[in-house]
Amino acid sequence: MKIAVIIGTRPEIIKMAPVIDEIEKRSIDYILIHTGQHYDHEMSDQFFIDLELKKPDFNIGVGSGSHGKQTATMMNGIEDVLVAEKPDIVLVQGDTNAVLAGALVASKLHIPVGHVEAGLRSYDKSMPEEINREIADVCSKLYFVPTEESAVNLLFEGISPKDIFITGNTIVDTCIRNLKIAQKSEEKPKFDFEGDILTLTMHRAENVDNRERLQNIIDALLELDDVTVVFPVHPRTVKTLKEFDMFDKLENADHIELIKPVGYLDFLLLMSKSKFIMTDSGGLQEEAITLNVPCMTLRYNTERPETVEAGGNILVGAEKDKITGTVKEILNNSDLYDKMSRAENPYGSGDSSKEILDAILDLYHQGELKITV
Ligand code: UD1
Ligand code: UDP
Repeated sequence: MKIAVIIGTRPEIIKMAPVIDEIEKRSIDYILIHTGQHYDHEMSDQFFIDLELKKPDFNIGVGSGSHGKQTATMMNGIEDVLVAEKPDIVLVQGDTNAVLAGALVASKLHIPVGHVEAGLRSYDKSMPEEINREIADVCSKLYFVPTEESAVNLLFEGISPKDIFITGNTIVDTCIRNLKIAQKSEEKPKFDFEGDILTLTMHRAENVDNRERLQNIIDALLELDDVTVVFPVHPRTVKTLKEFDMFDKLENADHIELIKPVGYLDFLLLMSKSKFIMTDSGGLQEEAITLNVPCMTLRYNTERPETVEAGGNILVGAEKDKITGTVKEILNNSDLYDKMSRAENPYGSGDSSKEILDAILDLYHQGELKITV
């Protein structure tokens, strides 16, 4: 049996890492295809080092560009590799353009697609990720969904229950395994910030490419001087903060630490030591509840509603007063803080990748992986 694993951006590398480990443990033949959508050392190579992954067998080298050009170039490159390598199954993860390109190409070559983290829906079609999720799920054969809620989303779209596997989210596997490693190797802490730490990340197009929304969020951050805001800035966000003349203001604020994106082990330690997390990232909403750190999400909707229902995540949108008010409320209300920190993790206990591989191997041995045409 041969598996093709497709990755392209930081979160895909992080969330596919335990799946790759599991493939290697079982000595299954596999190829790793990197689309090259993320290419800076701190957005890509650093994670291969931290998570001890082999170098990709193929790198399409797509780089940055418009969605159409990026997706088309990825499709071209992925098709060449799949035609030459003839894998039995292609695995994609999440909702980036790599998932869209990989799932489309593989399904048209009649190679079964396994979608890891399938079934998430924000029901907000203005998000490029929502389009990618939906299309990937139309093209997939196997659906590895994190929760029952995501399984139900797929059932409503007519997906057969026999193709849906509720496995939890592989981020829990990555998080649990690497936190131990990070804590062990912490001889000299890389970060030594004082006071209550609020770890912040944001990169969603709807926040950072929109001047007004970004200004509201920045104004809120400038007011939050009861805490130390640690902000590893995504390259997309650096670009627009500079374009909108907002970068210097943040850099000059005493309570805000602007840093480059950090490697996974350092970032895990930072998150685990934070009083709370503020983000528009998908992965951070999941990691926050895994690490028992209260989360505030800079969005009006989320495809991770389980985190909100469990009580660990509050949607604060992009209004200045709502953001500052919520931080103060959580800081001053220890009952609320405790409740948020104790929210039950809906994403499983760290066995997702094992369950994914068990399902794939079972189907393969039963001859069920073939697509008949
Ligand atoms: C992409 C995904 C998003 C995911 C995010 C993870 C899509 C549609 N978007 O968004 O779902 O949450 O990755 O971080 O697939 N850039 C660099 N260096 C890099 C990568 C990007 O400088 O290594 C800059 C470029 O100016 C680029 C911009 O960031 O134009 C945006 O990058 P892109 O890959 O298009 O989208 P992300 O915002 O990273
Ligand atoms: N992350 C990291 N270093 C950072 C910021 C984020 O290692 O400086 C990790 C984080 O732990 C999470 C993943 O990157 O696992 C999330 O990626 P991102 O927010 O870019 O994408 P999303 O999850 O929104 O798709």
